[in-house]
Amino acid sequence: MTDSVTITDNRTGQSIEIPIVDGGVNATEWSKLLPGIWFYDPGFSTTAECESSITYIDGDEGILRYRGYPIEQLAERSTYLEVAYLLLNGELPTAEQFETWKDEVTHHTFIHENVRKRFLEGFHYDAHPMGMLVSAVAALSTFYPEAKDILDLDSRHKQIVRLIAKMPTLAAATHRFSVGMPFVYPDNSLSFPENFLSMMWKTAEPRFEANPALARAIDLLFILHADHEQNCSTTTMRAVGSAHADPYSACAAACAALYGPRHGGANEAVLRMLTSIGSIEHVPAFVQSVKEGHGRLQGFGHRVYKNYDPRAKIIRRAAHDVFEVTGKNPLLDIALKLEETALADEYFISRKLYPNVDFYSGLIYQAMGFPLEMFTTLFAIPRTAGWLSHWIEMLSKDTKIARPRQLYTGSTERDYVPVEQRS
Ligand code: CMC
Repeated sequence: MTDSVTITDNRTGQSIEIPIVDGGVNATEWSKLLPGIWFYDPGFSTTAECESSITYIDGDEGILRYRGYPIEQLAERSTYLEVAYLLLNGELPTAEQFETWKDEVTHHTFIHENVRKRFLEGFHYDAHPMGMLVSAVAALSTFYPEAKDILDLDSRHKQIVRLIAKMPTLAAATHRFSVGMPFVYPDNSLSFPENFLSMMWKTAEPRFEANPALARAIDLLFILHADHEQNCSTTTMRAVGSAHADPYSACAAACAALYGPRHGGANEAVLRMLTSIGSIEHVPAFVQSVKEGHGRLQGFGHRVYKNYDPRAKIIRRAAHDVFEVTGKNPLLDIALKLEETALADEYFISRKLYPNVDFYSGLIYQAMGFPLEMFTTLFAIPRTAGWLSHWIEMLSKDTKIARPRQLYTGSTERDYVPVEQRS
């Protein structure tokens, strides 16, 4: 037995043997035998769109690594800013490189006053923070027109630093606006997570002192959300980036993809689901209704993981540290019961549906005081590092513009009918 497949075109009798490399076959090889024959793959479930050396996932074993480093080690020992550097540059920084990186990010956290005054404050009072964030990130491209020069490496670096640095400022600004509180300017003397918490929660005190356990929890969640290879928003980043759009426009598109409840919007959906279940006694009936096709168990299932999502395991443990400070989230018991019930049920077992990253993250966010509507922005802040890492990788490989084919299933040619003759 060889590690290859043989494809035969029964119309001509011609065959081609293609090696299986890293679990896949190269489409350019078989398209030599079958020009004009499309590979129909809705949702790209069996298509590798690119080669990437950023993040490795083994969905069957529940393994996640950034640049080769196990997520468990990074979660325990690293910081989000260090992980962002790792994702973007391929290596962990030296002490000197890290100081420079931290300094650059810290000094780009401010946003142009007009982003706040003209854009953010122009929204309706109850605008969803993710809608505001998507628009604000896109608007940044008009403030930094040089970002269009995506092949200029200095400019590229500057836009990357700006995006990593400004996402927390923008996200916090959306919250302050939605609760009618004054905008809090970044404090350059604080660490990345402390500064974010300060911009979220500072009121009249001269300097906001974040609880160290909560600042660490936010940083940990940022590490866990920083990248996840070719998910929907990263694929969007790559697709828009492949048209050579500037990074702000591409990031705004990625943010929009993240907003959806099947993707980054799931953490918000989980909390709404747990709230609507209301008590442990209602869990069996709720699980039954999901099995009967009435909606999905939010925070469960994953395209790649057919095992427990390693990020969910880490978050579940971290929740206890947070609850020691904030008090237990009353929805935790419902979540635990839901997990226990689902993991013992044949429907979920046979489909290999396990808790994913969103199942427990929302419980922590809520206990820390974040409103539900902010949850997806908390995902967008760190995922920006992943999006930008893929963007650089895509540009460095001079990737072709994303342009899949379709199977046309519409009408054959027909003649235009004037409106008075239409029935
Ligand atoms: N609850 C109940 N049934 C489910 C669920 C769920 N959460 N997820 C999948 N299934 C069932 C689905 O009905 C189907 O059953 P059948 O074979 O009988 O038709 C089977 O499992 C396979 O589902 P699928 O929709 O083909 O799987 P997919 O890989 O296309 O979808 C998913 C992956 C994440 C969109 C899906 O599992 C889902 O909708 N989960 C809930 C939303 C969620 O938690 N999203 C966060 C994903 S992780 C973080 C992120 O990416 O942002």
